[in-house]
Amino acid sequence: MPFNYLTAEEAAEMIFNGATVGLSGFTAPGTPKFISEALAVKAQKEHEAGRPFKINLFTGASTSDHVDGALSRANAYNMRAPYQNVPDLRKRINSHDCHYFDRHLSEMAQEVRYGTYGEIDFAIIEAADITPNGEIILGCGVGNVPTYAAMAKKIFIELNDKLPSSLCGMHDIYMPLDPPRRREIPIYAANDRIGSPVLKIDPAKVVGIVKTSSYDCVKPFTAPDAVSTQIGKNVVKFLVGEYTAGRLPKEFLPLQSGVGNVANAVLYDLGESKELPPFMMYTEVIQDAVLELLQKGKCTFASTCSMTFTDETEKKLFADLNFFHDKILMRPAEISNNPEVIRRIGVIAMNTALEADLFGSVNSTHVLGTKMMNGIGGSGDFTRNAYISIFSCPSITKGGAISNIVPMVAHPDHSEHSVDILVTDQGIADLRHKDPVERAREIINNCAHPMYRELLTDYLEFGTQGQTPHTLKCAFEFHNAFNETGDMRNADFGKYV
Ligand code: COA
Repeated sequence: MPFNYLTAEEAAEMIFNGATVGLSGFTAPGTPKFISEALAVKAQKEHEAGRPFKINLFTGASTSDHVDGALSRANAYNMRAPYQNVPDLRKRINSHDCHYFDRHLSEMAQEVRYGTYGEIDFAIIEAADITPNGEIILGCGVGNVPTYAAMAKKIFIELNDKLPSSLCGMHDIYMPLDPPRRREIPIYAANDRIGSPVLKIDPAKVVGIVKTSSYDCVKPFTAPDAVSTQIGKNVVKFLVGEYTAGRLPKEFLPLQSGVGNVANAVLYDLGESKELPPFMMYTEVIQDAVLELLQKGKCTFASTCSMTFTDETEKKLFADLNFFHDKILMRPAEISNNPEVIRRIGVIAMNTALEADLFGSVNSTHVLGTKMMNGIGGSGDFTRNAYISIFSCPSITKGGAISNIVPMVAHPDHSEHSVDILVTDQGIADLRHKDPVERAREIINNCAHPMYRELLTDYLEFGTQGQTPHTLKCAFEFHNAFNETGDMRNADFGKYV
């Protein structure tokens, strides 16, 4: 069936006010980049003409400035889910211009299929290639595209000539049945393939193809500073300790690693470790460090939802695709983040916290309890089901005005029941098999910055009742002190006596 070719503007013209749109991709890779820009221009023109124009946008995870940046600046979102990380969108969310549903990434696709989000009017899919009978070779990220494509009434394809069609074979497209008929996800090792190398769509739904040309525009990493380097070393020290003590299997376990500079630094450090054997990854994103680890043979296989490589690293990948072809597999988010698989194969989860409390609960999403930062992403999918769940963060932020260890987290994303290990630049707190007071002492002594240890001990000793000795009337004294004086060091528990 011959396809119709369109410009991005012509495609945007067909997307109407109130439409629900699902995008392929996960982080910037695999995410279409051109129709969204044209849609932002259209939204601006509509607003200038006094007409409403907003869409609902569903993705796999975060996108890029071409999507969330452009559309937020144009105030073109009614609803957005399940994750974002763009400053312009953050402002819209926190000022209530955009309804944002922050969901566990593994759950989004199934919830869309269950019908709780309504109908999908359009899917926009980035492709490296497409056959006339509707088999798509996806780009460098998958996300929730199998579900969006299956449910959409109409489909646009952005055919990107920077993506080699030899990416074919690096995707594993699989959609589970829905309850009550769901069977086990038959992945028994990180490198098991269970699905199709191509995304099959109904060619009759394709309204048009937009030809594009762009690398994925992942922002370069900032060089690790002393704090993130020390956090990385501490995470590796913990893993080496577990391995040499025989608490991890000889062949090691698959690793999940979050996004960002600290995560990238941890992986570089793991690559340097002589004590740890080569390992596999079962994760939702792989960043630049992983390509090097694959080259060196330290990482032997990476199952992921996206290759979140900077443009420079993406070019290296494409130049040597034969080498990497059987070492990386990209899966839909509901499979890369699948709780059943994570629990079965024993993934070690490594994620980042905004703040953690004395008893081990973690806030990953809300700055000072109210302002949305990014979202929970896949951190909950992995944390709750991991063999060992590690969270890391600096001990202090903003020159010490903020302690990342607080009496009680101002927004709970991961509870003490799921968090095993806390790591800061100060050290490692092993929270396993410790009661609440033991955990609090471990965190104060090993993870809190010395400038906050006395204040945190005051809080711990203030509350004497119950197994978890919180004192509710002053549990947020650190946050109150910051809001009132700009510095948590001004916390004063004395005033509550
Ligand atoms: N209170 C207030 N502000 C805080 C804070 C705290 N406890 N901790 C950090 N911040 C501020 C920092 O100062 C920084 O502000 P700036 O942008 O003005 O400099 C900002 O928040 C980001 O902090 P940073 O340490 O650079 O964060 P990061 O890049 O390491 O990201 C998360 C940390 C938690 C925001 C990020 O990991 C995330 O979004 N996690 C949830 C999703 C997830 O875990 N996905 C994992 C699977 S991929």
